[in-house]
Amino acid sequence: MIKKCLFPVAGYGTRFLPATKAMPKEILPILDKPLVQYAVEEAAEAGMLDIGFVTGRGKRAIEDHFDVSYELEHQIAGTGKEKSLQGIRSLIDTCTFSYTRQITMRGLGDAILTGQAIIGDEPFGVVLADDLCIGDEQGVLSQMLALFKQYRCSIVAVEEVPKNQTGSYGIVDGEALGDRLIRVTDMIEKPTPAEAPTNLAIIGRYILTPDIFEILRTTPAGKNGEVQITDALLQQAKTGCVMAYKFKGRRFDCGSIDGFVAATNYYYDQYKKGGC
Ligand code: G1P
Repeated sequence: MIKKCLFPVAGYGTRFLPATKAMPKEILPILDKPLVQYAVEEAAEAGMLDIGFVTGRGKRAIEDHFDVSYELEHQIAGTGKEKSLQGIRSLIDTCTFSYTRQITMRGLGDAILTGQAIIGDEPFGVVLADDLCIGDEQGVLSQMLALFKQYRCSIVAVEEVPKNQTGSYGIVDGEALGDRLIRVTDMIEKPTPAEAPTNLAIIGRYILTPDIFEILRTTPAGKNGEVQITDALLQQAKTGCVMAYKFKGRRFDCGSIDGFVAATNYYYDQYKKGGC
């Protein structure tokens, strides 16, 4: 039903310098798997097999990761090491990968607009790979897809954050339609705790309807002088409908040292228990 998923990966990853000086932040591993692979696996699980990257300078390693590596594979053929590549090989075999470049870093909204060349005129998923999500029972994108089938409008995943952290997120307000669903009436990018209407923060999972591109085209630069997807979504909410969904599961902000270490510890526990 939704085939395409967009991965904005052009950002510099300044919060992880010096690690990200010569390496994309999306390639940072949790145990032995890069963040971006977890993210693509979540999209594939939701049936979104056409993967589009909005990439930028210095991000070549992402393209190489989602491609065969003949020399390496030849070297390890027939050895026990082959199985380490099974997961990535099966993604390469089942998904298609497309790339387009964001030339100037003008914000997430601009990155998504750049992705129109890949997406065209259909609803699509968006994943920010530094939010690593572990869904209960099914992945967060799969949960959102089930809702999209019902409501056919843009959906953002949200979670409650401590009030003193609202300045790191897009914050939503709206009318509760159930335990986990909110019809959005307001949305603000990175408000101070005093400005924030709630503590419901958008995390890096979106399902967007393609009319968002027209809105983005005329969305002026907002917070930090960047074109914000949050501002475009507020437009969409005012003229149509946008839902916020409190997903089932947990999220690690792997763009921060604390979140990255917490994710590593979580997966290390699973690994020790034989779970991954
Ligand atoms: C972006 C969005 C923000 C959202 C966040 C989720 O911010 O602009 O609305 O809450 O992702 O991770 P960034 O973290 O790129 O500054």
